[in-house]
Amino acid sequence: MRWPRGLDGLCYGGDYNPEQWPEHVWAEDVALMRRARVNLVTVGVFAWSRLQPAPDRYDFGWLDRVLDLLHAGGVRVALATPTASPPPWFSAAHPDALPVTADGVRLTHGSRDTYCASAPAYRAAARDIAGRLAGRYRDHPALALWHVHNEYGTACHCDHAARAFRRWLRGRHGDLDRLNEAWCTSFWSQRYGDWAEIGPPRATRYLPNPGHALDWRRFCSEELLAAYVEQRDLLRTATPGVPVTTNYVLGGWVPVDHARWAAEVDLVAIDHYPSDAGAGAEEQTAFAADLARSWARRAARPADRDPGAELDSDPGVDSEPGADLESDSEPGAGAGRAGGGEGDGAAVADGPGGPAWLLMESAPNLIYAPGRMHTKEPGRMARHSLAHVARGSRGAMFFQWRAPRGGAEVFHSALVPHAGPDSRVFREAVELGAALDRLAEVDAGAVQASVAIGWDAACWWALQSPGLPSGRLDYLDEVSAAHRVLRRAGFGCDFVAPDDPLEAYPLVVLPALYLVADETAERVRRYVAAGGHLVATYLSGVADEYARVRLGGYPGALRDVLGVRVEEFHPLASGERRRLSTGDEGRHWSETVRLAGAEAVARYAGGVLDGEPALTRHRYGAGTAWYVSTRLPDEAYGRLLAGAARAAGIAPTCPGAPPGVEAVRRRSGAASWLFLFNHDTEPRRVPAVAGEDLLTGVRAEGAVTVPAGGVVVLREG
Ligand code: GAL
Repeated sequence: MRWPRGLDGLCYGGDYNPEQWPEHVWAEDVALMRRARVNLVTVGVFAWSRLQPAPDRYDFGWLDRVLDLLHAGGVRVALATPTASPPPWFSAAHPDALPVTADGVRLTHGSRDTYCASAPAYRAAARDIAGRLAGRYRDHPALALWHVHNEYGTACHCDHAARAFRRWLRGRHGDLDRLNEAWCTSFWSQRYGDWAEIGPPRATRYLPNPGHALDWRRFCSEELLAAYVEQRDLLRTATPGVPVTTNYVLGGWVPVDHARWAAEVDLVAIDHYPSDAGAGAEEQTAFAADLARSWARRAARPADRDPGAELDSDPGVDSEPGADLESDSEPGAGAGRAGGGEGDGAAVADGPGGPAWLLMESAPNLIYAPGRMHTKEPGRMARHSLAHVARGSRGAMFFQWRAPRGGAEVFHSALVPHAGPDSRVFREAVELGAALDRLAEVDAGAVQASVAIGWDAACWWALQSPGLPSGRLDYLDEVSAAHRVLRRAGFGCDFVAPDDPLEAYPLVVLPALYLVADETAERVRRYVAAGGHLVATYLSGVADEYARVRLGGYPGALRDVLGVRVEEFHPLASGERRRLSTGDEGRHWSETVRLAGAEAVARYAGGVLDGEPALTRHRYGAGTAWYVSTRLPDEAYGRLLAGAARAAGIAPTCPGAPPGVEAVRRRSGAASWLFLFNHDTEPRRVPAVAGEDLLTGVRAEGAVTVPAGGVVVLREG
C-alpha cells in the first residue's frame, strides 16, 4: 500500500468535474476548495468524450489548465482514466464492444459503462487514452494518485466474453474432464465434449448449472481485473512514484472479488453509499470501513497473495503495440508540466497507522434509494466521514464537488449544492475540512480488532444460485448481522478471506461460509486446535470451492471441528419461527443437528425439531467451536457472540460506552485515540475515559459527554 504523492495528513475532497462547467467557474471552485481545506480532487473520471472528441482528435488543453489551476491553489489531483464511459464515436465505430446482457440484448450507448471488457477494441482504446494521460501528466506537480476507471463491475455475455471465458476456464481446469467433474455436468445431460460448446451463462430454459454460474462470476472478476492491471501497468511505467488505485463499488451488488483485487492496487479505495437513512446507515458505514481496512491489510501482505490466480491480460487481439506514452496533442499546453514538483517520488509505504485505505466517494447529502432520495440530517455527513476515519480511512472524499446542472445524476448531492456555497451543506463541508485538519495526528494510529468475521465474495455468488433450499438466504445479510451485533456489543472486527491467517484473532466468526476448500477447512481446524474460538453458522462448510456438496452430512468440511452432523435442513417460511429452549425464536432456517462430540447449549422447543440441538459447543484441541443452526434474533445473536468473545478473553473497546454510542480506538505504541460517536438524539455520558478532545481542545477527566449526533475524538492519557 502506498500513499498519494505529496499529501500529508488526511485527504479531503471528491470528484471534480470541471468539464461540465465554463472556465470562469473553475476559479471559484478552487477558491471554495481552499475555504473548505480541500486538498485532493479526482479529475476526469467521465471525461473521455472531452479528452478525445473523435477517434483521431485529442484535447488536453482544458485539463492542462485545470491541473495548473488546482496546483496553484494547493489542491492535489487523483487523475482518473475515463474508461468507464466510452464516447459516442467509440460505440458507433465498434458496436461489437457494446455490452450484451444474459438475455442476449446488446445495450446501446447513452448511459455509462457501455463497454465489454473482453472486446479487443475497447481494451485497445482504454490503453490508448490511459497511456496518453500518463505521458502528458507524468511530471505534473499536482499529480498525487492515479484513479483508474470507475467502479469496475460490468459483465458482458457477448461472443468476445465467451472466448475469454473459455480461455480462463482452460487455465482454471486444465482439461474438459476436470471441468465436467467440477460442474457435475452429468446432471441434465450437460457434459461438454468441446471447449467451443461452453458459453457464458446466458438466459436458459430453467435453472442454470451452479458450477458454471459460479465460475462465470469468478471469470468476470478476473477479466475486469486484467483490464485494470493493463492500465495500472502503463501508469506505473510512466510514473513509478505515483500510486495507482481504482474505486471499489460496495453494497448489495458484488461484481468483483475485492479481497483478491486488493493485491493489485496501491491503495484500497471504496465508494460508500448506505442504502438506509437511519441507524442502518451507521451500521453499513462501519461494515464497509471494516471491510476496506481488512482488504488493505491483505494487500499489505504480498506473500499471501493468491499464487494460483491468473490474469488474462490478453483480450484476444492485442498484438498491436502498447499505447504510446508520449502526448501528441496541443503543443504549448500544460504550463504545469515542467519539473517534478514537491513530493516527487514521495509515495510512502504503510506507516504505523496500518495499511492505507481511503473512502474515495460518499454522499454529502441526498443519496439515491429505491423510491425516493434520502436527505442526511445535519451533522450526519461529518459523523459518517469520521466513522470511516476512525476505522482507518486516510481521509474522506465525496461524490461530488459541485452539483451538475443536468445529466443523469442531476440531483445527486454535492459539497457545493445547487443552492451554492451559501447553504447548510457547504457550511458543513467547511466544518468537516477543519475537523479533518485537527485530526491529522490520528493517522499514526492503527485500528486493532480481536474478532475476525469470514468474508468470501464467492460464497455470496454461490448463495445467489436459484436452486437453493430457501429463497431467503442472503449472504450479505448473514455477514452483516454478525458484524452488527458485535459492533453493538462494542467489539472491533476485521474481516478475513478464506486464505487469510486466523491466528491473530482470539475469536473467528464464519457466517454462512458455504464454500469451504480443503485448505480452508484445514486452516480452521489448526486454528481451533491451537486454542482459537470459532463460531460458525448454518450453511458453512456445506460445499467445496466448485459448489459441490460434501457428502456424509452438513456442515461438510467443518463437521469434525464443530463436532456436529446435520442430517436435514428445515428452511422456514416467511414469518415462521422455531422456538428455542432459551426462549428466543429462530427464523429463516433450522436443521436436524446430531451431536458428534459437541454439547447442546440450546435446543429447539416444540414442533418437528422438539428437543433437537439448535446451538452447540465443541471443545476441539485447545479451542472451542460453536455451531448456530438457525438465524437468531439480533439480541440473542449478540449475547452468543459477546459470550464467545468473553470466553476468548476479548474486552469491548470502551466497556462503559452506553447504548447508542459507538467507540473505536486507534493506537500507535503508547499513544491512542478514542473516537466516540453518539448516534442518539440525546447527549450521552461516557464514563472512565480521559484525554483531550482533538475537535474542541477540551480535556476530559474521568468522563466525557458526547453531544447528540456528535463526535468526540480523545487523545487518550
Ligand atoms: C457512485 C459512482 C459515481 C456516482 C455515484 C452516485 O457509485 O462511482 O460516479 O454515480 O455513485 O451515487
